Amino acid sequence: MNAADATRSIGVFDSGVGGLTVLKALQAEMPHERLVYLGDTARLPYGTKSPASIARYACQATALLQQRDIKMLVVACNTASAVALDALREQMQPLPVIGVVVPGATAAVTAKPGGRHLVLATEATVRLGAYRAAIHSLDPQAAVDELACELLVSLAEEGWNDGAIGEAIVQRYLEELPDAARRPDSVILGCTHFPLLRDTFRAVFDDGVAIVDSANTTARAARELLAELGIARDDDADGDLTLLATDGATRFARVGGQFLGRDLTWKDIEVVDL
Ligand code: DGL
Repeated sequence: MNAADATRSIGVFDSGVGGLTVLKALQAEMPHERLVYLGDTARLPYGTKSPASIARYACQATALLQQRDIKMLVVACNTASAVALDALREQMQPLPVIGVVVPGATAAVTAKPGGRHLVLATEATVRLGAYRAAIHSLDPQAAVDELACELLVSLAEEGWNDGAIGEAIVQRYLEELPDAARRPDSVILGCTHFPLLRDTFRAVFDDGVAIVDSANTTARAARELLAELGIARDDDADGDLTLLATDGATRFARVGGQFLGRDLTWKDIEVVDL
């Protein structure tokens, strides 16, 4: 790679607005980098689709970001990371790709070594056991339970981030688990939408339970990898952000603004076709 690569953007994609939780952490970690974010809102949710469809969508989203001349890809979607990371690495070669599953698992085993972890994620992520494998490769002593919570994606998309309705839904999902699994040492928010519901989880689980997500560990891993490859942008450069979505600029702006913690309008979102 030559020095010019450093000025290129970091591509980030998710099935929708959830990956903005990761984008926000990337901005905080690397304020001088250029970021281009794609939310595949036309096809959300990925979590209930077949692995073949998820992989096809993820490869198409990546191809669009490659046209924007990116230097690195951050897969800010647990479902796409669980299903398609190897295919995306192949497609992006020789450029680096970071998913969110291993950083999320790292955050959990760091917070509670040898502990019992409860992974809350989409159906596809749970079906593939991606977190279980990542946690056990980092900490073979850990116990892992996984629970698919599809309704929570809609709750976050609706902006119902706290209150009795969300708490009741989480409690209802927990009824599906054996008693011991309902008393974990850590709860892993294995879906990029779920950090928005942190207050809901905090109200449901005891104070001693660590509630972890992938955002900060992913952002740190991305910064370290860019530095290692010599393609980090100069510290004195101004960062910028391009937001792309495959449908619904107005809705993306309304919900995405909540994720980013600032006002957006439809004019801030470029609608693209994959
Ligand atoms: N962003 C997805 C994830 O992190 C959840 C939403 C979806 O099902 O597409 O798994």
